[in-house]
Amino acid sequence: MEISANAQALAYLVSAVLFILGLKGLTHPASARKGNFFGMAGMAIAIGATLLGSEVQSYGFIIAGVAAGAVIGSVLAARVQMTAMPQLVAALHSFVGMAAVLVALGTYLNKAQAGLLNPVLMGELSAGIVIGAITFSGSVIAFGKLQGLISGAPVIFKGQHALNAVLGLITVGLAVVFATTEASWALVLMTLLAFVLGFTLIIPIGGADMPVIISMLNSYSGWAAAATGFTLGNNLLIIVGALVGFSGAILSYIMCRAMNRSIINVVFGGFGGDSEGGPSALAQAAEKGVKAASVEDAIYWMEDANRVIIVPGYGMAVAQAQHALKELMELLEEHGVEVKFAIHPVAGRMPGHMNVLLAEADIPYDHVLEMDEINPEFATTDVVLVVGANDVTNPAAKTDPSSPIYGMPILDVAKARNIYVIKRSMRPGYSGVENLLYYQDNCSLIFGDAKDVCEGLVTALKGGGH
Ligand code: TAP
Repeated sequence: MEISANAQALAYLVSAVLFILGLKGLTHPASARKGNFFGMAGMAIAIGATLLGSEVQSYGFIIAGVAAGAVIGSVLAARVQMTAMPQLVAALHSFVGMAAVLVALGTYLNKAQAGLLNPVLMGELSAGIVIGAITFSGSVIAFGKLQGLISGAPVIFKGQHALNAVLGLITVGLAVVFATTEASWALVLMTLLAFVLGFTLIIPIGGADMPVIISMLNSYSGWAAAATGFTLGNNLLIIVGALVGFSGAILSYIMCRAMNRSIINVVFGGFGGDSEGGPSALAQAAEKGVKAASVEDAIYWMEDANRVIIVPGYGMAVAQAQHALKELMELLEEHGVEVKFAIHPVAGRMPGHMNVLLAEADIPYDHVLEMDEINPEFATTDVVLVVGANDVTNPAAKTDPSSPIYGMPILDVAKARNIYVIKRSMRPGYSGVENLLYYQDNCSLIFGDAKDVCEGLVTALKGGGH
């Protein structure tokens, strides 16, 4: 069966609308499942309409490719740990980048043979190849850093920015030569340089900044797909590429804003350095010392509280403490305590990290509040339990202008009556900045692995507390 070009265009339009509805659904946990469904339906229609189009001449290779991809994709998706999600996403972006490069090269060879090259097409091909190659090698480096295959530390060398600028300019120059002269040596050199550029752009960036970079690479992969759409004359690919390109760019912007950093600062590094100025608030606070507490101490206050707010962070993800927290929530509620969860936009290491983990543990959405909603409630809260979260609770962001994180929006945990923080040591969080919260009179630390401590809290509460 073959469908007409008009029928295919109509199917593509329906797909595009479904993709937009999908993105809309993904903006809230409660509608995310529906959003995913719209996205999958849109993709099914898009693939179906493409396969039934007049361009497809044989199905053998397509079926073999789809089958192999489906098997590998299903196994990967079933086996991946939540904490390894960022590197899986990085790996998938590298495929998009490489696909853009290969489609552009294949189109060039086809059209060159048929004598159908023209400057506009050559410009589109160049864009697809350059963006695709940068996305590919950049994503491979991001994957290697996150997977621990290469050092996560920033690799910085002298003249790095100048080198990137020169490489970028030569690549653009080669693209112009290729588009105007059809010289294949320019095509080969441009492709190779773009691969090198992806490498030199991403290698200096520290592993902890990778989520923002991945979101940027996601955006690049969208633009690479859009360029491929122009090359192939496929409207749906142009629309989808633009959706991915823009949503990745917006997400990178939101993440940077929530960390109070500019995208330039993330890309070119320089975070977590020494704070400047006279004796910092930290030095004064450090003299007071830090209080250590036991699970029994915390339960003593929690079971008689009116409200307990739980603040999850990266440590909860590492320890996989979300299921123990769910049990703690249920037990506290049985004691008549109101329990809420407070989510900072960049808690953890990727957008929505905490929401996904809490949803996995079946914690109801209405218990989970975003920073702006929950912040006014801390001042009237009896107990806050911080579970492996650090930077997102640091009052220095509001009170110490000399702190590197000054200006970053934070959860107002410091205002609560009693604060218990679960972590394993006095090591700082991701930003490398010490947390002033720990030195407050109303704050105590429960040292240990988040899962062990949360299970300990559950046991203590079951044991009847005091
Ligand atoms: P962090 O500030 O990194 O603090 C995590 C804390 O968890 C650490 O203090 C660590 O202390 C503790 N921890 C680690 N493993 C633990 C375990 N098994 N049990 C108990 N505690 C454990 O995390 P956060 O508060 O979630 O803040 C996120 C940070 O990441 C922010 O600075 C943010 O800017 C940055 N960031 C976030 C994103 C996104 S999109 N979410 C992207 C890039 C960067 P110990 O080692 O002492 O246990």
